[in-house]
Amino acid sequence: AGPCDLYSSGGTPCIAAHSSTRALYSAYSGSLYQVKRGSDNTTTIITPLSAGGVANAAAQDTFCASTTCLITIIYDQSGRGNHLTQAPGGAFKGPEPNGNDNLASATGAPVTLNGQKAYGVFISPGTGYRNNAASGTAKGDAAEGMYAVLDGTHYNGGCCFDYGNAETSSTDTGNGHMEAIYFGTNTAWGTGAGSGPWLMADLENGLFSGYNAGNNAGDPSISSRFLTAIIKGKPNQWAIRGANSASGTLSTYYNGTRPNKSGYNPMSKEGAIILGIGGDNSVSGQGTFYEGVMTTGYPTDATENSVQANIVAAKYATSSLTSGPALSVGSSISLRATTAGYTTRYIAHTGATVNTQVVSSSSTTALKQQASWTVRAGLGDSACYSFESKDTAGSYIRHYNFELQVGANDGSKQFHEDATFCTQASLNGQGNSIRAWSYPTRYIRHYSNVVYAASNGGVHTFDAAGSFNDDASWVVGTSFA
Ligand code: AHR
Ligand code: AHR
Ligand code: AHR
Repeated sequence: AGPCDLYSSGGTPCIAAHSSTRALYSAYSGSLYQVKRGSDNTTTIITPLSAGGVANAAAQDTFCASTTCLITIIYDQSGRGNHLTQAPGGAFKGPEPNGNDNLASATGAPVTLNGQKAYGVFISPGTGYRNNAASGTAKGDAAEGMYAVLDGTHYNGGCCFDYGNAETSSTDTGNGHMEAIYFGTNTAWGTGAGSGPWLMADLENGLFSGYNAGNNAGDPSISSRFLTAIIKGKPNQWAIRGANSASGTLSTYYNGTRPNKSGYNPMSKEGAIILGIGGDNSVSGQGTFYEGVMTTGYPTDATENSVQANIVAAKYATSSLTSGPALSVGSSISLRATTAGYTTRYIAHTGATVNTQVVSSSSTTALKQQASWTVRAGLGDSACYSFESKDTAGSYIRHYNFELQVGANDGSKQFHEDATFCTQASLNGQGNSIRAWSYPTRYIRHYSNVVYAASNGGVHTFDAAGSFNDDASWVVGTSFA
């Protein structure tokens, strides 16, 4: 059985079921998600390998070979048509034209399920999905349940990486107008034990770790790589439950009455569905979503326990974040441009600015050093890399406003993540392409001889689609100095 078969047996069927990794009903063999590629803007639909099975990641890999790919639709498997698509601008605007949010890279969150490759939905700040016309979702004070499988190591303090029930207007219409899973380290409202990240409920104008916004010592910091997150609510009762998705059973972090603050009892749920954003399209959160559902009715703990067992049996595990020619940690390298007319240029820096410069064996020692980088284990994720400046020890290439800079490692999570890059088989067949770990739609790319973290056809001038694949492909060589 799949998770939604279990919810059905429990009398609380799924009214929305979303996953880019697997079918959530044992008989489901339909659409899981749609991807769009950069080379010709065409789309394809990814389905399970077999009914009830894991997504056909190989079909995505073939379709997306030598180009970039975005996730355009996450289909609803429940049959209600509650698909998730690019979120429109709300009270807060996304980065795309008209205030729309970004779409997620199709390749930012590779995993395996029972040894079979699949891709999650990697949400960077600015990215979001939504359905403001969902059917069958809880409205008003009606009962509902939901779970999501998330990456317990991908989070931030921004508002708000959510999955669940929200406003149909993409604006904040008041307390109690949402009921969604939140995951991260935001401390503006509730907090749990330790320093986070925490699983909380976004009930609008508040992230709740327990009875009222504020500290609830019963809501633990999460440390597992995969996290099963559960929120459920019914008249004057709600609960938070969580578990390691890879092993073990659910714990209840809160189970009790509604907040005593005005607006939360009764609730005024509106029934839109959000992923990766807040109710008002707050777009500062980050996280990774693998699968999740929403139900009608308040699931029993026993039903949820059987769903957790099903998730454990799916055997989520990590998979390599890199491909293409391997880099060796500790080695000193140069990075040569491959765009015709620019192939004598290498990634270098002039002060904080990262640019390309013509470098050769007869260049000055100073320039040779400016164009030389030491490969380090990724500061933000050791499965990828960071590039330390040869002439400024302790300084690394990082992105800031999507421009590359050389900056001193200040030890912060933000710096570490901004300075982490994942290499992959190159987009133009020469060397590697190098994507930003925290923004996997963005690649190290030169434009007018300055170097950026650029997306293929995005809103910035430096995102121009013309010569993107060439500008984002680099030959790794031994260093000049
Ligand atoms: O409740 C937290 C956030 O507050 C909501 O997600 C958003 O709509 C509002 O800004
Ligand atoms: O480069 C994009 C973002 O810009 C970085 O993640 C952040 O440090 C800065 O605000
Ligand atoms: O960086 C040099 C060139 O500038 C790039 O190849 C091109 O995309 C831009 O015009």
